[in-house]
Amino acid sequence: MTTRYIGCISAKGGVGKTTTTINLAAALTYFGKNVTILDANLTTPNVGIYLGNPIAPITLHDVLRGKHDIKEAVFSHKSGLKAVLASISLKDAKKVDTTKLAKAIYGLEGTADIVLVDGAAGLGKEPQSAIKAVEEVIIVTNPEMPAVTDALKTIKLCKEMGKQVLGVVVTKTNSKNADMSLKDIENLLETNIIGVIPEDRAIKFSQANKETVVHSHPKSAAAVQYKHLAADMLGMSYHESVETNDGFVNFVMKYLGFKD
Ligand SMILES: Nc1ncnc2c1ncn2[C@@H]1O[C@H](COP(=O)(O)OP(=O)(O)OP(=O)(O)O)[C@@H](O)[C@H]1O
Ligand SMILES: [Mg+2]
Repeated sequence: MTTRYIGCISAKGGVGKTTTTINLAAALTYFGKNVTILDANLTTPNVGIYLGNPIAPITLHDVLRGKHDIKEAVFSHKSGLKAVLASISLKDAKKVDTTKLAKAIYGLEGTADIVLVDGAAGLGKEPQSAIKAVEEVIIVTNPEMPAVTDALKTIKLCKEMGKQVLGVVVTKTNSKNADMSLKDIENLLETNIIGVIPEDRAIKFSQANKETVVHSHPKSAAAVQYKHLAADMLGMSYHESVETNDGFVNFVMKYLGFKD
């Protein structure tokens, strides 16, 4: 099998890169793909923490130190997801040589359909090592001017590095901080928006449960949107409606005869 290497990248911190990485991985798995997540946030890794397994027996740092082959570092999550986790130790973070990542990642060739890489924020050495390690990138942003401005710089850098930009995923779209429309974002970035993920409490609940929202709340707005994104990436058709929070209210209203 040929492996696709795709990065979830953004210069702006906190926009939803890790949330998108783990949920897009879960959604691609839902559609039958064999996916491995790789945590390229080498100084402040979050993937293991979000999945409830902060400490891996063999970490990406061990691989970059030349102590292990990357295949030995693939860890299986209870959800069926596979991941190569980074070490959360400060000592490891200080010593890591990020330049080795681009070579190390190709040790996963043939072991997965897609390796989905969670990048670090910024545009310095560490996030660049993630961009260098992949062939395709998804730019993650929020509908806020500072995030979109950073997304513009990120797109430019990725293109300069010869990477294929698959498109932009806008997350937390209905948050109170949103100050840009999707049309304006698309015009400013001159890049297609391929995913729109609303701010959703289900994301917080899933994080508290150390699960992806795709597993824990499969009919939530965020989960359905991540599945739409995955289906579109794979050229598959997918129709699922969102179960709204007022499901119970509707049920009672119908029961009492106030609604059809
Ligand atoms: N769709 C969403 N709805 C609600 N909260 C969200 C959503 N997406 C992300 N969040 C929240 O936003 C915060 C930041 O998300 P996340 O850690 O995925 O961002 P990041 O870009 O990876 O951050 P960093 O740059 O620090 O790595 C988290 O608390 C997460 O729960
Ligand atoms: Mg992150």
